[in-house]
Order: sequence, then C-alpha cells, then structure tokens
Amino acid sequence: MDFNFTEDQLSIQAIARDFAQKRIAPSAAEFDAKGEFPLANIREMGALGLMGIEVPVEYGGAGMDPISYVLAMIEIAAADCAHSTIMSVNNTLYCNGLLKFGTHEQKLKYVTPIASGEAIGAFALTEPQSGSDATAMKIRATRQADGSYIVNGKKSWITSGPVAKYILLFAMTDPAKGAKGISAFIVDTARAGFHCGKTEPKLGIRASATCEIEFADYKIPAEDLIGAEGEGFKVAMSVLDAGRIGIASQAVGLSRAAYEATLAYAKERKAFGQPIGSFQMTQAKIADMKCKLDASYWLTLRAAFAKGQADKSGGKFSTEAAVAKLTASESAMWITHQAVQIHGGMGYSKEMPLERYFRDAKITEIYEGTSEIQRMVIARNETGLR
Ligand code: CAA
Repeated sequence: MDFNFTEDQLSIQAIARDFAQKRIAPSAAEFDAKGEFPLANIREMGALGLMGIEVPVEYGGAGMDPISYVLAMIEIAAADCAHSTIMSVNNTLYCNGLLKFGTHEQKLKYVTPIASGEAIGAFALTEPQSGSDATAMKIRATRQADGSYIVNGKKSWITSGPVAKYILLFAMTDPAKGAKGISAFIVDTARAGFHCGKTEPKLGIRASATCEIEFADYKIPAEDLIGAEGEGFKVAMSVLDAGRIGIASQAVGLSRAAYEATLAYAKERKAFGQPIGSFQMTQAKIADMKCKLDASYWLTLRAAFAKGQADKSGGKFSTEAAVAKLTASESAMWITHQAVQIHGGMGYSKEMPLERYFRDAKITEIYEGTSEIQRMVIARNETGLR
C-alpha cells in the first residue's frame, strides 16, 4: 500500500489549489449573493484541464486518473462548492457517461468540446415526480420509422441546464419494460423543441445554474442514442457511481475549508480570558471534526482507487462510492454545523463564509442519491438482499 501521490496527481492538485485560492475564493461570496453563474471562471478551469480530468487527451481532456480528479475537486470545493458542482457534473456525469458508453464518433463530437471547457455538459435523470425512484420517469422518446426519436416531457433540477450545450438525457422508450425501457441520448440544446423552464430557487450552491428543461416534439437522430435502446438505466446507475465520488470530494473540500477556518478562529478568539479553543467543549468538537474530515478524505480516495481498478478490469465500485458519499456528505453537514456554532454570531453572519458552507453542505446529502439511497445501495450490496 502506497500513500504517496504521483507527480501528475500533485501537479493537478497544485494547479487547482492555485486557481481556487487566487481566482475563486475572493469572489465566491459575491457569486453566491447574486446567484450568478461563474462562466469566465469555468472557461478558465477548462483551459487548465479541470473540466475533463479523466478524459483521454484525444477527446480534449487531461488524460488523468480518478485520484487526480478527487484531489482537484477537493481544492475547488474548498474555495466554492458551486464551482465544484459545475465541475463535477461536467467531469463525471456527462464526460464519464459518454466515455464509458459512447462510440468513438460520439466521443469526438460530444466529449471534446465539453472536456476542453469550450462548452458545458449536463445530465438529465430527475423529473418533478421522480427523484430517488428514477424508473418512475414519465418523459417519452418514441422511435420513428427512420430510426430517429421524438421526445416529449420534462426534467427537473438540471445542474447547468440553463447554460449547457449538450445534455445526457434519460427517457422512456418502452414504458411497459420499466427500468429496461429507459434509453440514454445526447441532446443538443440548440435544436428546436428544447426549452429551459423555471429556475430552481436554492438554499445553497447558488452560483450553479439549475432549472427545469422541457421537450416538445424534440427530434433526436438515431446516431445520438447512447448505448443500446433499453440500456439507459444501467448507464445512469453506472455514471452515478462515478458521480458520487465527485460529490464525496466536494463534501471533503467544503469540510476542510470549514475545519481550517474553525481551527484558526478557535486559537484566536478569546472568551473568559482564554482562546475558545482551550475549552474542553470546543476541543471535543475540534477532535470530532478532524476525525470525520480524515475519514471522509481517505474513504473518498479509496473510492477513487476502486474506480481506477474497475476502469481497467470492468468491475464495480458502487459500494466504495456510496460509502464515501454517505460518510463525506453527512460529515460535511455536521462539520459545517459545528463550524457555525464555534464561530457564534460570526458563523451566522454573511461577513464570513461559514454560513455559506453550512447552506452548501446540505445538498451533498441530497443530490446524486440521497443518504437514504446510499444506505440502500450499501446494505443491498453487503447483504445480497433486497
Ligand atoms: N451499475 C450498473 N447497473 C446497475 C447499478 C450500477 N451501479 N445499479 C443497478 N443497476 C442495474 C441492475 O443490475 C438492474 O439491472 P438487471 O435487472 O439487468 O440486473 C437495474 O439496474 C435495476 O436495478 P435495481 O432493481 O437495483 O433498481 P431499483 O429500481 O431498485 O433502483 C436505486 C435502485 C439504487 C434506488 C436507484 O434507483 C438509485 O440510485 N436511485 C437514486 C437516483 C439518483 O441518484 N438520482 C440523482 C439524480 S442526478 C443528480 O442529482 C445530478 C445533479 O443534479 C448534480
């Protein structure tokens, strides 16, 4: 077992840290307050190789491994969770899905511009009536005589929906078959019949753009089907395994930022003539924060290692990803809660970033599979029972 990172891994970590601290952190509060999408920053992140980290160079990416992705994600999330949400969906849900299930031609056409940061990708699974129960989707893609599909229906909570050029879409091609009646497609948002609906008003990650998307007789050419017809649910589940490592990384970055701010504050802030960090009740909180942060970090790296192995062997890493996502997201909620508490009034004030960390942490327990879904995945895999 080797705990050392490679030169390449350290290099992308340093690039991400530098950009995050110099360019993202100083304006994160403003983007959050305005709910403004940080387009210029995202383009620069693309130029630095951060929007397609695991994508091979021939398809416009950085050609790196899952551990590199985790290290870079942690750095971006430590500066701003919303930036890391956009990065995560682009890298794992969109690029990873096409890399795993797309043809060479589809990758050239639809991965290259997204991995290079020239354009933005999105992932559309959720609908107003179906989140955790993803097979309950209503959107229909009806095959035509010429092999193309006509799509009608709506998706909701689409991260980067208002700005995406291409979207990995899941739609019912044969409702009678349930999960096996779902297919995956690429949507070009410039085509007729695609519309962005209402913007979701959110508690946190306010700089990431989230909206409903609607399809009215939207035509998808036969060559834009991803994988085989009826394989869409497997594509979605497999892509979400990778996505959950991204969310775990995001939760680790956020937790680290909250922990480091709290550690500094506990040493500097005095009450009753002493630094508040010298009080046992604060010390207990700091010790528990550190344990949860370290556990989340190493479980996330373990999941990335498992993904790297699975990428070579064709195996699965669903349990490792779910364990990492569950641990890191619930820890982020707990750590940011304690961070606000230790900062007292300043934790509650928008003059410091703690309240933003606290608001941003909540989504990590919800999207890409709630904590309840992660527990279900882990327990089903461990027991073999359903
Ligand atoms: N990899 C590959 N295939 C998988 C899989 C995986 N990880 N998990 C399941 N499958 C396959 C199964 O093998 C099965 O196929 P077979 O019948 O051929 O064996 C098929 O999929 C159906 O599996 P299940 O019977 O287990 O499916 P289920 O209906 O019981 O659902 C679930 C399982 C775990 C609850 C799943 O529905 C789930 O993960 N739900 C949560 C959805 C989710 O994470 N949504 C997030 C939305 S995206 C988002 O949040 C993006 C964003 O904004 C950032």
